[in-house]
Amino acid sequence: MKVTVVGAGAVGASCAEYVAIKDFASEVVILDIKEGFAEGKAMDLMQTASLNGFDTKITGSTNDYSKTANSDVCVITSGIPRKPGMTREELIGINAGIVKSVSASLIEHSPNTIIIVVSNPMDTMTYLVHKTTSLSKNRIIGMGGALDSARFKYRLAEALGAPISDVDGMVIGGHSDKGMVPLIGKAVRNSVSVSEFLSEERMDQVVQDTKVGGATLTGLLGTSAWYAPGAAVSAMVQAIACDTKKIFPCSALLDGEFGLNDLSIGVPCVLGANGIEKIVEISLSDAEKAKLAESAEGVKKTNGLLEL
Ligand code: 2OP
Repeated sequence: MKVTVVGAGAVGASCAEYVAIKDFASEVVILDIKEGFAEGKAMDLMQTASLNGFDTKITGSTNDYSKTANSDVCVITSGIPRKPGMTREELIGINAGIVKSVSASLIEHSPNTIIIVVSNPMDTMTYLVHKTTSLSKNRIIGMGGALDSARFKYRLAEALGAPISDVDGMVIGGHSDKGMVPLIGKAVRNSVSVSEFLSEERMDQVVQDTKVGGATLTGLLGTSAWYAPGAAVSAMVQAIACDTKKIFPCSALLDGEFGLNDLSIGVPCVLGANGIEKIVEISLSDAEKAKLAESAEGVKKTNGLLEL
C-alpha cells in the first residue's frame, strides 16, 4: 500500500505521521515544492520509527512526481492555509490553480489512484478535481466532515462531561463556518440521544462551537489547525487501504442524492478499497434537509468562482 501526501506543511506532515504510526501502508511519499522541505520532514519522521514502532517507509521529494508513481491513495494538502479572520472561501484564487496542477500530476503517475482533497475551500477544490480529471467520481473524496465530526464529538463530550469514547455524532454539509450541518438530533451518548442530557440552548451552543471550530483554532494559532485535520484524513486513508467499509461524512459528487446535483458536499459515505463504495442517503428531518439545501447553495456559489 503506497500513500502520497502532497504538501509537507503541518497538515500534510501530521497526516504522514499518523499513517506511518498506524503502520498499514508499506510506503508514504511526501512531496513539496520547497527545496528539501519534504525530504527533511520525511527523514525526521523516519527517525521516530524505532520510537513509535512502525515499519512504514517514509520518503520525501522536492516536486518529483515520478516518486509518487503507482500510489494507491494520494492526499492533497497543498495550498495556502487561512489566517485569522479569513474564510476558507477566500483561498480559492491561489489554491484552485495549485490543486488543478497537483491532481493532474498525481494522476499522470498513478492513473488508478484515489485522491483525497484537504485543501480549502475543500468542497469546491474537490469539485474542481472532478471537473478537471478523468478519475471516476468514487475515487475523488473531500475531507471535511470527518474533521468537523471529530470537533462535534469533542464539543458534545465537553457539554456532557463524558469521555469522547461514549459519544457519537456526525456533521454533514459544506466544510465552511456557515455551511456545516451538525446532526444534533442524531447525536448520542452511548446510544442515548444527547437531548436526554442537554438543554436546547446547550445543544445549540455545541452546534455553534462546532461550526466555528476551525476559525476558533485559527484565531488561537494564527494559522489553520493541523493535528485534527491530519488525523481525520489519515483515518479515511486507513479505511480505504484496509477496505474497512466504515462510514465517514465525506465531500462526494452528488447526482440526485439528497435531492442535490452537480456539486461535491459532505454526506455519509461508506469508504473502502474503491474509495466511496456507497453514498448513504440517511433519513433527515425537514429542518436538516433545509440546512443541507442551504449549505449546498453556498457551496455552489463558491464553485461559481472557479474558471472551469
Ligand atoms: C480546518 O477546519 C483546515 O479546514 C481545516 O481546520
